[in-house]
Amino acid sequence: MKHFSFKFSSSSTDYFFAYSFSNLKKIVDLQNAVLITDENVFRHHEKRFKNRDVIVLKAGEEYKVQETVDSVIEQLIEMEADRKTILIGVGGGVVTDITGYVASVFMRGLKFGFVPTTVLAMVDASIGGKNGIDVGVYKNLVGTIRQPSFILHDTVFLNSLPETEWVNGFAEIIKHACIKDAAMFQELEKKSLKKYQVRKKSVCELIQRNAILKTKVVQRDEFENGERRLLNFGHTLGHALENQYELSHGQAISIGMAYACHISERLTGFKDTARVVHLLDKYGLPTYASFDKQKVFDVLKMDKKRERKEMNYVMLEKIGKGTVQKISLKNLEQIISGI
Ligand code: GLY
Repeated sequence: MKHFSFKFSSSSTDYFFAYSFSNLKKIVDLQNAVLITDENVFRHHEKRFKNRDVIVLKAGEEYKVQETVDSVIEQLIEMEADRKTILIGVGGGVVTDITGYVASVFMRGLKFGFVPTTVLAMVDASIGGKNGIDVGVYKNLVGTIRQPSFILHDTVFLNSLPETEWVNGFAEIIKHACIKDAAMFQELEKKSLKKYQVRKKSVCELIQRNAILKTKVVQRDEFENGERRLLNFGHTLGHALENQYELSHGQAISIGMAYACHISERLTGFKDTARVVHLLDKYGLPTYASFDKQKVFDVLKMDKKRERKEMNYVMLEKIGKGTVQKISLKNLEQIISGI
């Protein structure tokens, strides 16, 4: 059991690692809390929600939309939520995004906390304060940046995690290794998903290492003017693919990372594309896919990292060292078409 407090620009977040969900009552006054979860988590862990105010969302990225936000707000009104209510998102990235976003706009802002239940949400989605919704094929187009009051990890939730969700989470872990942590990249090369799954201690350590890695990047650049952009490695193309081809987030960013390695070869002289592709493959992630490049490029152009005719694209200089470089849309289109 570990407790850390991390300061951000206008608030701080308490992290409770390897903490039991039943200890939530020691962190917040549950009489004033509304728990938000999805039907999968609720089905597997119903007893953990007993005697609490709970909103259960439909599961899936397709529900990370305004309609779900409206429905949560209507339920909060029915529950007579007020400005003292704290919202607690218990689930994966869709649940944490919807919870954080609703908490930021309902009554102009309620406190909120997260209990991430997937590897992806533990190492990425619950951290950083960006919470929002998709609009059509455009991922996270609408949202806010506001930090949760607390994040609690209880690995009991990983027991009910399907294999596809493990793989999804490892895509973000490999991303962190690529941009910031060459030693972790080597560790991932030596181990395997199976080895992490059977050794709770090693998966806990890996998850904590990744949660802290991301947190420190966000602390240094909360509003994404510099270093935080590195966390978008694989995401520019990945987001353009994700909702058009109904890929999971992990699969989409994995393809995005493979392509970003090729783009890096041209722009930074990166030499280890084969190692990255091999690692993604080893963890069950796709790297190359045939897709309608024009259609995907049209969506990619709407990315938040575009500045007029140029894009800030995350590339690798070497394993463990990401860099952001400007690339013209024309050049980017030519390179992507040629891969
Ligand atoms: N919620 C994910 C992030 O802020 O990056």
